[in-house]
Amino acid sequence: MNRQEKQAAVREAINKVPLISSAAARLLELSGESEHGIVDIVNIVKYDAVLTSQILKVVNSAAFARRTEVYSIDHAVSLLGEDMVVGIAMSEAAALLFDKKLEGYAAEAGSLWRHDLKTAIAAKIIAGYARTKVNGDLAFTCGLLHDLGKGVLSDFLRNTPEKIRRAMEEKKVPDYAAAERAILGIDHAEAGYELSLNWNLPAPLPQAIRFHHQPALIDEALKPLLYTIHLADIVAMMSGVGTGSDDLQYTLDTAYEMYIPLSGNELAMVMLGVEQEFSKAAAVFLGKEEEASE
Ligand SMILES: [Fe+2]
Ligand SMILES: [Fe+2]
Repeated sequence: MNRQEKQAAVREAINKVPLISSAAARLLELSGESEHGIVDIVNIVKYDAVLTSQILKVVNSAAFARRTEVYSIDHAVSLLGEDMVVGIAMSEAAALLFDKKLEGYAAEAGSLWRHDLKTAIAAKIIAGYARTKVNGDLAFTCGLLHDLGKGVLSDFLRNTPEKIRRAMEEKKVPDYAAAERAILGIDHAEAGYELSLNWNLPAPLPQAIRFHHQPALIDEALKPLLYTIHLADIVAMMSGVGTGSDDLQYTLDTAYEMYIPLSGNELAMVMLGVEQEFSKAAAVFLGKEEEASE
């Protein structure tokens, strides 16, 4: 297959990814609205039986160590908080992509989920340091979705990690996304963008996915959000939670400092906070990972 044919095949695969549930789509949309609360979340969740049972399962799991059983969805959602509910909804809605073994990136099953979850947590924390206000819930959601395109691209990148590693060593390509474009005519950010359009995700989610490695290219108004995601992605990789062969094979655009003025000390604090939040979240999602590895 030449590059044009490969690109067409990738597009076909993107179009074949099943739509996400309307509850998941509505939750993603809600995270971008400035005024929203737990009541709005409950109102979406309670009409989706699968999601409701999943949330009750998580809240009653060992990770939460509650002495009494939680039966009401209102109570469960308020105990879990918005981020966890969005996380549960997305991990179900896009399980096909999140849980698969990323052979094209030489990564284990579940790596994409862990990396996206860690980026989401980092993005929410970093959002708190942005010079112009960045919606933390929106930052979390963008983090959760930013690399979904890899779930599609992976199948088309089998046997390429070694080739890409050499090309990067010889400085033939500036970063991993450029290598993806050279091989397939499309990179994982563009693939994720097209997927998010198919899913009818509202702005700015598609744009955030598309430019997470090139934040300088987005409209000025979205730069604070984009640099938040961009930095969070690198923080997740630096902490050892990447997706395999492309780990840290991207350039950090240091212009983030204009939008997120973090001192070295503060960045260290952010990384510490991310570790703590991530280990809590990972414990909650552990049941899911164990199920996946069975
Ligand atoms: Fe990426
Ligand atoms: Fe990433």
